[in-house]
Amino acid sequence: MDLGLKNKVAFITGASSGIGLSTAEEFAKEGAKVIICGRNGQKLEEAKKQIKEVTGVEVDAFACDTSNFEQVEKTIHEIEKSYNKIDILVNNAGKAQAGGIVDARPEDWQSMIDVKIFSLINTCKLVAPIMKKNRWGRIVNMSSIGGIYPNPKLTISHGLSAAINNLTRSLSLDLAPFNIIANAIGIGAVRTKNWEENMLPKVRQTRKDLANLDDEVIIKQLGEELTPVGRFGKPVEIAQIACFLCSECNGFVTGSVIEASGGADKFM
Ligand SMILES: NC(=O)c1ccc[n+]([C@@H]2O[C@H](COP(=O)([O-])OP(=O)(O)OC[C@H]3O[C@@H](n4cnc5c(N)ncnc54)[C@H](OP(=O)(O)O)[C@@H]3O)[C@@H](O)[C@H]2O)c1
Repeated sequence: MDLGLKNKVAFITGASSGIGLSTAEEFAKEGAKVIICGRNGQKLEEAKKQIKEVTGVEVDAFACDTSNFEQVEKTIHEIEKSYNKIDILVNNAGKAQAGGIVDARPEDWQSMIDVKIFSLINTCKLVAPIMKKNRWGRIVNMSSIGGIYPNPKLTISHGLSAAINNLTRSLSLDLAPFNIIANAIGIGAVRTKNWEENMLPKVRQTRKDLANLDDEVIIKQLGEELTPVGRFGKPVEIAQIACFLCSECNGFVTGSVIEASGGADKFM
């Protein structure tokens, strides 16, 4: 199947590691012009090098905190100057944050609202008018399966994922008349640095039976226990869904939350 991504200009946020990096690689393999961003310049350089090694393609990279409107504005301006258009936007920047209403601190909520919600608002506000001008666009927002099936151990992440799903639906209705398609992916457990840093410590706290086991053993056991397919997902399994949703092959799926969780409705 030819996805028709050749020479499409794709801006992928939070693409210096994990799912975002894998998404950048898949778009690059399909011949898209890929622009990645993240906050840490050193990590971005390493990601650029990895993408070049894996795909042979050189991508552009911008150090940009997507929760900061001025930084996003500057980055979008640079992309437009170089390419004169943006066809594809993947809002991937983010992290998980354990905690609920009672135990989370106000600053935990604020930092998650900034990275999950304001990042999406900032990029969409600036990129949608560019897509409208070209009468073609594809937007994918990385969400969580918890936006549909909330888990009280992850109230912050899951409450905000529900907001992402709702915003995606609104955006899709707003932009459909301009041939702009917007979807979210409800991601389940996918092994990344984010999972290791933000989720494993919480699993060790809340599951005494797993507390003293190695990371590998915990991941294997949780995959078998909670996921009908019996394992964690791989970043590339999310990346390839994003490629399809953003392709010329998809003109009819919009406003949807695609569940990509191996059948699971929870991951801890
Ligand atoms: N892995 C899972 O199981 C899972 C499940 C559900 C949802 N998700 C969602 O999927 C997305 C990717 O997660 P991942 O697991 O691949 O995480 P990851 O490996 O930690 O990657 C996160 C990326 O986002 C960047 N980033 C973080 N904050 C940013 C900001 N303010 N501005 C720009 N870039 C930022 C990071 O780079 P810098 O730190 O250098 O900025 C990094 O490149 C996230 O939105 C996450 O919430 C993941």
